[in-house]
Amino acid sequence: SDALKIGIAGLGTVGASLVRILQDRHEMLATTCGRAIEIMAVTARDRSRDRGVKLANIKWFDDAVSLASEADIDVFIELMGGAGDPAYSAVKAALQRGIHVVTANKALLAAHGIELAGIAEEHGALLNYEAAVAGGIPVIKALRESMTGNTVSRVYGIMNGTCNYILTKMEKEGLSFEDCLKEAQRLGYAEADPAFDIEGNDTAHKLSILTSLAFGTAIAADDIYLEGITNISIEDIQAAADLGYRIKLLGVAQRTESGIEQRVHPTMVPYDSVIAQVDGVTNAVAIESDILGELLMVGPGAGGNATASAVLGDIADIAKSRPGAQHVPAFGRPATALLPYKRARIQ
Ligand code: NDP
Ligand code: HSE
Repeated sequence: SDALKIGIAGLGTVGASLVRILQDRHEMLATTCGRAIEIMAVTARDRSRDRGVKLANIKWFDDAVSLASEADIDVFIELMGGAGDPAYSAVKAALQRGIHVVTANKALLAAHGIELAGIAEEHGALLNYEAAVAGGIPVIKALRESMTGNTVSRVYGIMNGTCNYILTKMEKEGLSFEDCLKEAQRLGYAEADPAFDIEGNDTAHKLSILTSLAFGTAIAADDIYLEGITNISIEDIQAAADLGYRIKLLGVAQRTESGIEQRVHPTMVPYDSVIAQVDGVTNAVAIESDILGELLMVGPGAGGNATASAVLGDIADIAKSRPGAQHVPAFGRPATALLPYKRARIQ
């Protein structure tokens, strides 16, 4: 059939949300994309775990590399995490077969993104990763597509939901750092190893990807001044508030006369600025450029559904693209699938 066949490696917070949405909205997505999206294969570590989704009619693979190398699929969705194997080898194997890849894995991209992009191009495959930076915020699409032709001077923002959740909860509820982190983990916001969140590495991974897109350079994830939030106390937060500031973990990348500067560290931001008002798991990304001017995007930065929404958008982009046809239909779905307009009744 004409369906887009996908395989999913990783059925945790993001993977299970994605499977649920693909199943619940199967018909709606088939109409929007002009073809059905069918899950053909899945894998995770523990086959016996109940994930609250229907997997009975889907082929189970015992490891991700076999799925990526052997499954009858058009798109490989990598939602396991980790910069190394099996994510790296599995993504590479899929791309080498010419199979498109969608991933939310910023650690993998920060380490191997340029190499993987090269393999994708060589084999005519797409590498989509909207969910890898700032969760559900469409910042990759903004930089990669919408802002084509702009010269970017600076990109910065709050890019880690776990840290922003912790800082907000410490300030507003007076809870300890440890309790706030535990709650962020329970809600599915934190990385498998939360040290990546609180020590700033996750923000650095995301920033390095944005830097590459914004300035057209290779990814330099190791060339980032890095300081996390582990030393921030409730007293620090209160002292900043007394002076009219809030503390946010920011990632900042900017052009300077001598080159590109990248840094991640807790920053005092004036209380009445938009960024200071970004609370909880919400992220914010600001991009300064010459044609567009200043763009600020604020939205959900982590969590199963918000992240799966971005993964789904990447899958839908592939489903909508056909050889020789426009990559994205003018109104997001085939013109023949647009619904009749129904005017609202004025009360
Ligand atoms: P989870 O830890 O919840 O899920 C990871 C999944 O991958 C689990 O199903 C796990 O199997 C499976 N897995 C882990 N290692 C292996 C392996 N060696 N072989 C096969 N399967 C494996 O992670 P998340 O869903 O939170 O995150 C997934 C990815 O999305 C990561 O790259 C993360 O950085 C990224 N991301 C997460 C966001 C979030 O809010 N959670 C937001 C944006 C990006 P099992 O279930 O059996 O243990
Ligand atoms: N652990 C990450 C965060 C997930 O808290 O922002 C989203 O990338």
